[in-house]
Amino acid sequence: MNSKTIFSPKNIESHFSPNAEIVLYHGDVNNLLSTLPDNSMSLIVTSPPYNLGKDYEKRISIEKYLETQTKVIHQLYRVLKDNGSLCWQVGNFVENGEIYPLDIFYYRIFKQLNLQLRNRIIWHFGHGLHTSNRFSGRYETLLWFTKTNQYTFNLDSVRVPSKYPGKRHYKGINKGKPSGNPLGKNPSDVWEIVAQDWETAFWEIPNVKSNHPEKTSHSCQYPIELVERCVLALTNEEDWVFDPYAGVGTSLIAAIKHNRRTIGSEKEAQYIDIAKERLQAYFNGTLRFRPLGKPIHQPTGKEKVAQMPEEWKSDAQDLFSNKG
Ligand SMILES: C[S@@+](CC[C@H](N)C(=O)[O-])C[C@H]1O[C@@H](n2cnc3c(N)ncnc32)[C@H](O)[C@@H]1O
Repeated sequence: MNSKTIFSPKNIESHFSPNAEIVLYHGDVNNLLSTLPDNSMSLIVTSPPYNLGKDYEKRISIEKYLETQTKVIHQLYRVLKDNGSLCWQVGNFVENGEIYPLDIFYYRIFKQLNLQLRNRIIWHFGHGLHTSNRFSGRYETLLWFTKTNQYTFNLDSVRVPSKYPGKRHYKGINKGKPSGNPLGKNPSDVWEIVAQDWETAFWEIPNVKSNHPEKTSHSCQYPIELVERCVLALTNEEDWVFDPYAGVGTSLIAAIKHNRRTIGSEKEAQYIDIAKERLQAYFNGTLRFRPLGKPIHQPTGKEKVAQMPEEWKSDAQDLFSNKG
């Protein structure tokens, strides 16, 4: 394998061809799908529109929304390789203050196609909007399905440092030998990755110098790091990674960082432009991103923003002493 093939600056093609390495299609996902061969994509990873009435979508009934998505998903199934994976990252649809966790609705669509759920990953983030009529939402989910029982899973590529690497077996034939794995532990199905709500994070912890470096004008961008873990665990070098709702190209960047071929469709010209700029910046070595696995900033308690305002102190003392 020549690992320079994709790491060196490459043409960004606007249409699929089997020899392309990066394809960014400007247009409707259905049009791109009609040009893709059966059984060709190793990983489909995306965050679809949530039907929330964001600037890139018209809000429709949840039934109509799911009907539209079902048609796309049937085509995604067709292009997914037999040993491939599909990762569907969603949050809540909200109507009249009621939440509809979208993964519950999507699950049935995937199961009708006989896809097999391997993990329902909780993407937990520490910041976001504070709600007043329900508990503030601090996670979204990522459903990882495979098409068959024979699928790529490179656990060693995504292990994380274990908390107690010095632990040893205390009985049995391995007594006294280290009980963990020298490459680290399985990252589990709860992923703590800094969220996309970067403005809020910035305002809450203004002295965190590294407020998220990836933020663009897209309102629903996800972090490169989130996709990288899927790319590393579920594909091999030069495999195709496809994001049908590519936004500003996050999945494509995660794929090329690890020497995979990549393709995305996006209907909004402004996001295509940003995605191209980000890809070029990656090749020029100027793209700012959070490195995979970088620990999340924890306030020490000494920062001004981590301290209770003087004028709240007596009220807070009363409240906490009543809770006993
Ligand atoms: C939740 S955002 C994805 C953002 C992306 N994960 C990122 O990090 O930039 C969904 C994207 O899908 C695009 N989109 C919605 N419907 C589409 C369609 N029918 N074809 C192509 N793109 C579409 C929207 O413009 C939006 O940018």
